[in-house]
Amino acid sequence: MSKQRAGLFIAFEGGDGAGKSTQAARLAEALESRGLTVLLTREPGGTPVGEKLRSLVLDHGHGEIDAHTEALIFAASRAAHASQVIRPALERGDIVLTDRYIDSSVAYQGAGRALGEDAVRSLNEWATSGLQPHLTVLLDVDPAVGRRRRTAGETAEDRLESEADEFHLRIREAFLELAQRRPESYLVLPAHDSVSMLSARILERVDTLLAEQDETPAGAPQARATAVGGAP
Ligand code: TYD
Repeated sequence: MSKQRAGLFIAFEGGDGAGKSTQAARLAEALESRGLTVLLTREPGGTPVGEKLRSLVLDHGHGEIDAHTEALIFAASRAAHASQVIRPALERGDIVLTDRYIDSSVAYQGAGRALGEDAVRSLNEWATSGLQPHLTVLLDVDPAVGRRRRTAGETAEDRLESEADEFHLRIREAFLELAQRRPESYLVLPAHDSVSMLSARILERVDTLLAEQDETPAGAPQARATAVGGAP
């Protein structure tokens, strides 16, 4: 009963308007209602320096930001987030839910801005010292639907959201390709399903992961835990 739980790291990914924030919040609520400790966080942001970088890179009015600078700002925000927030929480045994992580940079900067997957991935692996999620929930959204959803409210589109449809199509394809390559580490869901249906499927998958962790004998390495905890 008092066995120390290993941390669990889950990233929510998808195009703009996919509903990631809603699903991450619902999962946090469901897990907390069972007495589990959950850290719900987001990128860019999650730390004081990360929030400043967020407004620098997303708000209009900072002049031109070229693609390399943009990728470095996202990676800088992520470096602070990984070392100051995510890793310590996982070491405490918490469940960390992040709204966006490395795949967002691979999709938006690697594919969207055409910087290439390899360069963006190695930058981010360096920035996070190889910290990888146990599971990535990908909410797949048709870019036209995503744009309609996010322009339905009164908030204006940010620098990335206001890019052309082709940009968002490249991002969608990149996310799907990442998931296809490592299906065991992804849960891909159609963002147009109902909020409650999506929440139920996500919770079901997370329950499976939690059960697998509980079955792992104390001291044995967790699946993919070397990257997460640096365990031998
Ligand atoms: P998000 O927080 O999901 O937007 P919002 O809170 O407005 O719904 O993401 C902000 C934008 O930043 C989004 O268009 C995706 C983009 N982004 C990147 O281009 N690269 C990254 O590495 C990250 C984390 C986000």
